[in-house]
Amino acid sequence: MGNAFKPDFLWGNSVSSMQTEGAVHEGGKGPSIYDDPELCVRGKSSDWVVAIDDYHRYDEDIALMAGMHMNCYRFSISWSRVFPEGDGEVNPEGLAFYDSLIDRLLEHHIEPMICLYHFDMPAHLAREYNGFSSRYVVNAFVKYGQTIIDRYKDKVKYWLTFNEQNLFGTDPSIGGSYLPVNERNLYQTNHNALVAHARVVRYLHEHAKNAVIGGMIAYQLVYPASASPNDQLIAQEIDERLNQFYLNVYSHGKYPEYMLEYLKKHGCLPKFEATDVDDLLMGKVDFLAFSYYSSTTISANKIPVNMPVYRYKEFGLVDNPFTGTTEWNWQIDPVGFRLILDRMSIRYGLPVFPIENGIGVDETAIDDEMILDDYRIAYHRQHLEQLQKAVTEDGVDCMGYLTWAAIDILSSAGQMKKRYGFVYVNRDETDIKDLKRIPKKSYYWFAQVAQTNGQNL
Ligand code: BG6
Repeated sequence: MGNAFKPDFLWGNSVSSMQTEGAVHEGGKGPSIYDDPELCVRGKSSDWVVAIDDYHRYDEDIALMAGMHMNCYRFSISWSRVFPEGDGEVNPEGLAFYDSLIDRLLEHHIEPMICLYHFDMPAHLAREYNGFSSRYVVNAFVKYGQTIIDRYKDKVKYWLTFNEQNLFGTDPSIGGSYLPVNERNLYQTNHNALVAHARVVRYLHEHAKNAVIGGMIAYQLVYPASASPNDQLIAQEIDERLNQFYLNVYSHGKYPEYMLEYLKKHGCLPKFEATDVDDLLMGKVDFLAFSYYSSTTISANKIPVNMPVYRYKEFGLVDNPFTGTTEWNWQIDPVGFRLILDRMSIRYGLPVFPIENGIGVDETAIDDEMILDDYRIAYHRQHLEQLQKAVTEDGVDCMGYLTWAAIDILSSAGQMKKRYGFVYVNRDETDIKDLKRIPKKSYYWFAQVAQTNGQNL
């Protein structure tokens, strides 16, 4: 097979601030919704306080990434580390932390990729304004985004506004809104977030001539359970309303007609302010990014009538006899990865970038012994083989491949036992232990894959 990986292909690691940094009471950081017991609806533990202590150990962690020949690190900036209240005064110590982190990455020839928001809404903005359901928070986010762009525009080439925007509004721990979850609130929150996104994209384009910025979704790949037309319809509705809607706005700068119709019919057309249409149009992205771990399969029969699309998966999921599963019952589906790469590339004609992919496994290293994680090697190898095919056989322009959490971190629910890393971190749910980093077998496998630019899978 010809080389699918262009010379500047990005091989890397992807994480979020609250799952890695720790140090929540240090460096002048203000609380986010993850640090506030009343607002933290997921992962109610003290875990976030230390996480994997990357705040103090980033030197070591960056050296480990360099040891794997990674050339890209996607991390999120903690909004409340930079603006403790989310609005108001900037915290110079917060910026100083990211200054050092970015400089250290560049010293190791690792391209930083900044994500401005990975669900950790400043607690003040959640309490007072319900996060992105408020236009006040849109303005606060734009100001925060501009501050970060001004500071790093000459050092950082790759940017993202939001992590997995298509999940906003489904859970308070994502968009920072504690309003009831329903279609009206969901689409208003997402409309506001789309406007915030577009204003930041435009600002970056006007101020950072060599930088590129993308929009990102959690790609929810859903197969119909059978050849029944109703199953097909349900799967298509999910794709068009929960995935393509966002990719459409990111790429074309406007709402697609089918979505406007749906929103009107369901009485949940968001309130547009006077400048929103222009803002969206001026904020088209340079690439489309997505996370992908597994596909799901759905049966129309199981979904009650008049259920809004965003709730279909609560009722309709069934097992897929053609895929394996992880310990967490997530379908392992490398061909699904190719389907997504193809679908996004064909529809939008933009470069695509899978920036989260990996497998969570419950592992324990005993006496510093190396974990022999052949299952993880197989998972990544199979997904990379499908990526190769998408590029060489289907003509996809793919920017790189970022693995989720190359060094073990907390899961989205604050668990330590669900490990994704090529490097083991010695702590468990309740015992912080010594946080020692221990490379697993997959560490050495990934290192030679990245070193040979994918020649040796
Ligand atoms: C992605 C999120 O959806 O999935 C991450 O961006 C999350 O924050 C990752 O950790 C894996 O999910 P989980 O629940 O296994 O940690």
